[in-house]
Amino acid sequence: MVYMPKNISKIDEWQQERQRMFKAVSAQGKIIQYLGKTFVVYKNTFWPFRDSQPLVKNFKIKKGEHVLDMGTGSGVIAIFACYRGAEKVVAVDINPAAIKSTRHNAKMHGFEKMIVVKRSNLFENIGKEQFDVITANLPFRNKRAHDVVAKSQWDTGLKTNKQFFKEVRKHLRPKGRIYFAQSNFGAIEEIKTLAKAARFSIKVIGRQSADGKVFYAFVLKPR
Ligand SMILES: C[S@@+](CC[C@H](N)C(=O)[O-])C[C@H]1O[C@@H](n2cnc3c(N)ncnc32)[C@H](O)[C@@H]1O
Repeated sequence: MVYMPKNISKIDEWQQERQRMFKAVSAQGKIIQYLGKTFVVYKNTFWPFRDSQPLVKNFKIKKGEHVLDMGTGSGVIAIFACYRGAEKVVAVDINPAAIKSTRHNAKMHGFEKMIVVKRSNLFENIGKEQFDVITANLPFRNKRAHDVVAKSQWDTGLKTNKQFFKEVRKHLRPKGRIYFAQSNFGAIEEIKTLAKAARFSIKVIGRQSADGKVFYAFVLKPR
């Protein structure tokens, strides 16, 4: 596995540029093409991007399964879960702009009855519901996030990722699985440590490289 790219300041610049682009979207929203499908993102929403593709290309959903998509952004993973046969998807995000984008995209793809979109800080508004599958493309990097747009890429002190692993088991059915995205410029070693401490096995199911950046998808199962 390849880890941290040599020039992390280039990653900072690239991520800051992306945050400026997320903020500059007009009131009509912006159309993004992703794996042959169309998505709309409203201002301040994380755009569907290569980071989620190893997960979307490799996750398995059995017909009729219930899925929780944590940190749904534009709703891209939630919508692909519906195309793969999920019966119900709960799509949550802390960012109100993501909620607006996901509602729009769920309707545009004809899944508005299957996708329940909720604003939630992690599992806060999930109640006691349990899922067969939990998908998560959470912010990758341990870096101070000063606003809600920065929070789509950076996780101050990895607090969100740590809290996710504290709570996730309660919301997973006993034979359930988690599909989790990370990157070589993120916190892979920390995530592996958190997963093991929470008694999950962890295995790479997909990877994709571009410009020295490597994006990974993992499957995690309760031990
Ligand atoms: C890397 S983006 C991924 C978005 C989308 N799932 C995708 O794959 O394109 C991370 C998302 O997690 C959300 N997020 C960050 N902290 C969160 C939290 N504490 N609770 C819920 N969502 C959170 C962000 O707002 C952002 O939409």
